Amino acid sequence: MNREVLAHISRLPIDDLPAYVYDLRSLRDHARTIRAALPERVELLYAAKANADPRLLRVLADHVDGFEVASGGELSHVRSHFPDMPIAFGGPGKTPAELARAVDAGVSRLHVESEHELRVLTTVLGDRSIDILLRVNLALTPGPVALTMGGRPGPFGLEPAQLDNCLAVIATDRRLRLRGLHVHLASGIQAPGHLDLAEDVLKWAHGWAEARRINLAEVNVGGGMGVDYAHPDQLFDWAAFGTGLHRLLARRQGLTVRIEPGRSVTAYCGWYVTEVLDVKRSHGEAFAVVRGGTHHLRTPAAKQHNQPFQIIPADTWPRPWPRPEARREPVTLVGQLCTPKDVLARRIPVRQLRSGDRIAFAMADAYAWNISHHDFLMHPAPAFHHLDEAPVPASVP
Ligand SMILES: Cc1ncc(COP(=O)(O)O)c(C=O)c1O
Repeated sequence: MNREVLAHISRLPIDDLPAYVYDLRSLRDHARTIRAALPERVELLYAAKANADPRLLRVLADHVDGFEVASGGELSHVRSHFPDMPIAFGGPGKTPAELARAVDAGVSRLHVESEHELRVLTTVLGDRSIDILLRVNLALTPGPVALTMGGRPGPFGLEPAQLDNCLAVIATDRRLRLRGLHVHLASGIQAPGHLDLAEDVLKWAHGWAEARRINLAEVNVGGGMGVDYAHPDQLFDWAAFGTGLHRLLARRQGLTVRIEPGRSVTAYCGWYVTEVLDVKRSHGEAFAVVRGGTHHLRTPAAKQHNQPFQIIPADTWPRPWPRPEARREPVTLVGQLCTPKDVLARRIPVRQLRSGDRIAFAMADAYAWNISHHDFLMHPAPAFHHLDEAPVPASVP
């Protein structure tokens, strides 16, 4: 945590906790680093599902080539703040109304998930045309990863054998412009694995297109760049990834590669800050109960990990009785919910943790507040702070 963030967190009035603190300067630096590592022929989309806070998107808009959205809601949200930004619309189960909205919004790419979806698209196009990518579930295994979405049975994308039926639909409808293929197989892949996967995908795509005499203009190799919550300092190796993509692209003139990472872009700039309400012992183990919990920060429950955190000691103790504390022992940090699942970090050794101390949970940006079950038990919502804020993009209705 840098000094500015620490000072801000330390100054927050206790009644304003829990709070999310977003460090926009570090987000800007990180996005700049990612962009600089990638070859020019790689287009970088940010997957808005990770965190679509408009102030974050505003920072990212200067460094990415567009946003990837996965619902009509995300599409309207992003388009209302960024009328001119290229948008790719993906995700399974698009309704006819969402497809129509995508056409109205002038998305730059629509990622088609099935032949049926393609046919529904043709019913909402009217006299307009659209650029599409066919999403393929290739039988490639990305190795041990956090979340698998392809390479095995699943609802995402088309099997390679089903692509020809889509080509037949496209061949008879000039409004459908096939630009290429989309392959997002997993999340949580580190750079060497992602490069191997990209190489396999590009090789397969080249062979597939050549056999059908298709001019393959682009391949989107997805997001899923690894984020290691157990080792917050070990970032995805963007430099190695960029160099590897450069090598792959050198063999394929005229091809554009797209990537659409979410978590690895925003995970590091957010902090969920709270206060230790109580420290207690139960059957020989220490528990720290904090204000808030997984209804604000569901990430550790969803991913079954320990959310990394930093203790910010509060030196004063205003009560006349002894301060509850844990000392040189493992502590489990839980929230205020009446469920044993409300665990933010389990059995983490601490030197000292006391009631009244502040806890800043790190890596609390991507898939954090936006995937949490906010209304359960009706606790108050956290405050949101944006450090080094750029002007909020106006929303255009
Ligand atoms: C199609 C698609 N693209 C991109 C992403 C972003 O993945 P990540 O946040 O792991 O980079 C996802 C996540 O589920 C996805 O489904």
